[in-house]
Amino acid sequence: MTEPSPKGTLSFFKDLHPPKSRFLDDVLDGLSKPQKSIPPKHFYDARGSALFDDITDTEDYYVTRTELGILDAIAGEIAERAGPGAVVIEPGSGSSVKIDKLLNALDNPAGYVGLDISKTHLIAACEDLASRFPGLSVGAICADFTQPVPLDDYPVPDGKRLVFFPGSTIGNFEPDEAQALLETYRSWLRPGDALLIGADRVKSAQILENAYDDTGGITADFNLNLLSRINRELDGDIDVEAFAHKALWNEEKARVEMHLVARRSLTFSVDGRRFSMEAGESLHTENSHKFTIDRFHALAKAAGLSVSAQWSDDREYFTLYWLERAETV
Ligand code: SAH
Ligand code: AVI
Repeated sequence: MTEPSPKGTLSFFKDLHPPKSRFLDDVLDGLSKPQKSIPPKHFYDARGSALFDDITDTEDYYVTRTELGILDAIAGEIAERAGPGAVVIEPGSGSSVKIDKLLNALDNPAGYVGLDISKTHLIAACEDLASRFPGLSVGAICADFTQPVPLDDYPVPDGKRLVFFPGSTIGNFEPDEAQALLETYRSWLRPGDALLIGADRVKSAQILENAYDDTGGITADFNLNLLSRINRELDGDIDVEAFAHKALWNEEKARVEMHLVARRSLTFSVDGRRFSMEAGESLHTENSHKFTIDRFHALAKAAGLSVSAQWSDDREYFTLYWLERAETV
């Protein structure tokens, strides 16, 4: 496969995509644990990103639609808070669909920087954005945001920074990892800058489990694509058909878990290493933590951030928070 590269419409492109050895290490480590698990960031090759986009169009996955509705309602207020000449930095930008609502509302934004691990998707989305907003400086960084990203080494335009982290991607991290990620974003903020973050709320188990097991089977394909990706990129011979998608609400941990469950006992190899699984044994592929308002406030506080505004939809399914650096940590 040829390496994707930007066409020149971007103000800058920085490629810090993790090497394949990092993916291999995570897979070999994860398959060696008593409860097999692989971090969800590895879902996102080009096919995984396209499947995620398809999930957002399903009836069952209320998350994206709900957040877009809130953004529509509050865009003017966000623009007022951000002020003129803001620079939007979006980690986990994906298809950058939500950003249009902000950019259309903001007063003369000075720039946009998309940051994502999924290289082909990132470049296409940022180029598309640059063509829709001519005159806006659009940069892209392909990187793993759980690793240090030296933002100040890149030509990020000057202006009040608005770090935008929508989609409840924060929920894909364990509480200590989520705090560390918020601390990273805090380190990108100077006094007066802000972080706008979307987080999904705790709700009924039925609604949550349906959202992660849509009737069209797209979430199942998204989950199973991880195995196909291992086969494609890491010389694997996993029988993908031998696995079933499972989504379950873990009440105690307030999270939806996704697993791939072996339908029969099987053995397979990855990069020459042999693994076996019993019938019914699972590979844990994702957590999507859901937040009460109090829980989110506690997380923000622990990361040295204070909530200065928040907005929810009428059903209270989802909340967007406006965070600033707390005076003291
Ligand atoms: N922000 C979009 C997309 C959310 S999907 C929305 O709200 O709809 C999560 C996005 O985060 C994907 O595009 C995925 O590629 C990216 N992502 C996940 N883990 C990442 C990591 N560790 N580093 C960088 N990007 C990551
Ligand atoms: C990106 N992330 C916030 C999504 C979520 O809801 O946890 C990924 C996803 N997994 C299954 N469906 C969507």
